[in-house]
Amino acid sequence: MSRILLIVSGGIAAYKALELVRLLRRDGVGVTSVLTDGGAQFVTPLSLQALTEEKVYSSLWSLTDESEMGHIQLSRAADLLVVAPASANILAKMAAGLTDDLASTVLLATDKPVLVAPAMNVRMWTHPATVAAMATLRGRGVHVVGPEEGAMACNEYGFGRLAEPAAIQAAIRSLLHHASLHHASPAAARPLAGRHALVTSGPTHEPIDPVRYLANRSSGRQGHAIAAALAGLGARVTLVTGPVGVPDPPGATVHRVETAEQMLAACMAAFPADVAVCAAAVADWRVAAQSSTKIKKTPGGVPPTLTLMPNPDILATLATAGPARPRLVVGFAAETDDVLDHAQAKRTRKGCDWIIANDVRPETGIMGGELNEVYLVTASGVEAWPRLPKSEVAGRLAQRIAEALDVAEALA
Ligand SMILES: Cc1cc2nc3c(=O)[nH]c(=O)nc-3n(C[C@H](O)[C@H](O)[C@H](O)COP(=O)(O)O)c2cc1C
Repeated sequence: MSRILLIVSGGIAAYKALELVRLLRRDGVGVTSVLTDGGAQFVTPLSLQALTEEKVYSSLWSLTDESEMGHIQLSRAADLLVVAPASANILAKMAAGLTDDLASTVLLATDKPVLVAPAMNVRMWTHPATVAAMATLRGRGVHVVGPEEGAMACNEYGFGRLAEPAAIQAAIRSLLHHASLHHASPAAARPLAGRHALVTSGPTHEPIDPVRYLANRSSGRQGHAIAAALAGLGARVTLVTGPVGVPDPPGATVHRVETAEQMLAACMAAFPADVAVCAAAVADWRVAAQSSTKIKKTPGGVPPTLTLMPNPDILATLATAGPARPRLVVGFAAETDDVLDHAQAKRTRKGCDWIIANDVRPETGIMGGELNEVYLVTASGVEAWPRLPKSEVAGRLAQRIAEALDVAEALA
């Protein structure tokens, strides 16, 4: 039987932790709970004890519990630690490594995976202190579910509502599933087995005449790394790539194209897919009238004028493909100014689920370089990821895609 340690901290949404326990028990998951002092203001130990059918822990200073080093035992006995709801206070303490009560001590003493479900007022959630704490925790590999957008108990509206218990249950199922696979055999940890992932990568080349073209500086490194990471987690991967100098990623079926129109056609031909990751830097425009012969330079002649026309929008087309739409559509936003504003607007405009945004000003060295520093922009907010090798960005993204597909499937 899988076992979780559920930490209930102080927030108005703590009552939903009781519903979560009920769902988990129905799944056959063993639940031991820790109630913070704040949490105990909102739910009683008796309710938790009745639903978990286990003792509820709350004090670091209990002689009977601590004679057996209870705070260490509690995390040792669990496959996963879940903080739901996670108050702004406990998230800040986790980020800082504080251990002034049983919950925070257990969280620092554990080497098990940790899932947090934040819940708080929207201004607490968007406060730079909480944003920084979340970035730190995510950077350390803490898993996060929610919060969601909606009306709040404090009569305000915005992000900060606890994720629904069913969504937290789905995230827990997914993490327990991966943990058990890892435990059984590291080679079996293929959470994307049976899924089809479509990835675009590289630049497009838009011909001017038979020898010249319009292009951009995309190297294909990030898109190819994502294709490799998704294949590494067991997905069947179709990679549609523009002209690049990087090697084919292992485990992917590669379709080479030149132009945006060819890239779109190859993507549509690869449907259906569970997830589409559009990492290609598709040229926004192509030359309206390509010359079928080389445009000649005549001595003293006037340079030719190129008239451009819009290319198909591949990301928007995949994201609005009706019933054939992949369950998860991820786009990229390479920006040189107002990165986040542009990325958030792009997510809405294109109808995609996530945007990976990065700052591609030449001084960042990102375009064509080995490292990347991205923001993950989703419906629930923005995560700033640390500067990482592109392969690590790809690994993290692939893991997040696996989790999101599991959650979406569980809720469908
Ligand atoms: C009525 C009420 C509702 C609260 N709701 C929340 C909440 O939803 N999220 C939050 O982070 N803090 C909330 N707080 C504040 C926390 O309870 C407080 O920061 C507490 O110290 C958290 O302690 P803990 O994290 O150890 O449980 C609320 C406080 C009150 C009095």
